[in-house]
Amino acid sequence: MPALPLIIDSDTGSDDAVALLLAAASGLGDIRAVTTVAGNVPVGTGTRNALISLETAGRTDIPVHPGCARPMTRMLSSAQHVHGEDGMGDIGLPDPSASCESTHAVEVLLSQPRENPGELTLVTLAPLTNVAAALLRDPDLFTRYRHVYCMAGAADLRGNISATGEFNVWADPEAAKIVTQAATPDKVTWIGWDVSRKDAVMTPADQQHLENIGTPMATFAHRINRTVADWARDVTGLAGYDLPDPVAMAVALKPDLITEQEQAYVDISVADETRGQMIIDRRVSAPAPNLTLVRRVAEAGFKKLLFDTVGTLAPPAPAAAP
Ligand code: RIB
Ligand code: CA
Repeated sequence: MPALPLIIDSDTGSDDAVALLLAAASGLGDIRAVTTVAGNVPVGTGTRNALISLETAGRTDIPVHPGCARPMTRMLSSAQHVHGEDGMGDIGLPDPSASCESTHAVEVLLSQPRENPGELTLVTLAPLTNVAAALLRDPDLFTRYRHVYCMAGAADLRGNISATGEFNVWADPEAAKIVTQAATPDKVTWIGWDVSRKDAVMTPADQQHLENIGTPMATFAHRINRTVADWARDVTGLAGYDLPDPVAMAVALKPDLITEQEQAYVDISVADETRGQMIIDRRVSAPAPNLTLVRRVAEAGFKKLLFDTVGTLAPPAPAAAP
């Protein structure tokens, strides 16, 4: 099975970082580019974190393109209180050895599928600002990708950053609305926080196992998620920290991990009280579905992919070009 050609859009925080390891080191992904966007942390910090994560996977050759520095209409509300000031658990990670590219993320999201029609899978792990900006320039953008998987929303309407909002949609609900307006269920799949909360929670035993693996990628994944583990204990009340971006990436890499999904018509609330909530219309009279919604994933299969991947030793970083 050839590796899946990927474009990844990320606001690289501690869970995005683990998703990047899965894409870069599982053997299932062929990352053509990473684009970054403001979200968990300011875009410059997220860009640094993406470079660090790819270097940890031995992939300093993968281009990283910075993108939008704030949501479409709102000021950035980051998740640094969740992931740490640096987004990676504030453990003092050294600067990356690679530098980011100068071409803007939105240009890459537009040009890559034009140059490789129908070949690329886009995986978004962040607020949808870059993608929405690309859609405003190319309304048919999604038709040019093979498929688009978004870690976005919560189909059970239970929020993580508010009572009703999942962070990626809550941070830029206008962008999420633009995405739902352009989406068709054959092209766009959302993996919501409801999936992560149910099928991707790292229990204390899982966390101990991850730490015991002892490889550089496993140790990195364990250490950068200490802050989010505290937040999960104090706020979401889960049995450990959950991994929303890694489980969304795992679905893109291995769709057979999906055990339950549906198609539905989804709109997004931009009202203050329900900012970012998914409005799912299941009436007979509802418009035709616009999204495929993953509802459950095989937890054991996801965690096996995760532990197997971080348990490998990353290849030495490619020698710098002469
Ligand atoms: O709600 C979870 C999402 O918000 C993840 O992408 C996480 O990285 C944060 O951005
Ligand atoms: Ca993210």
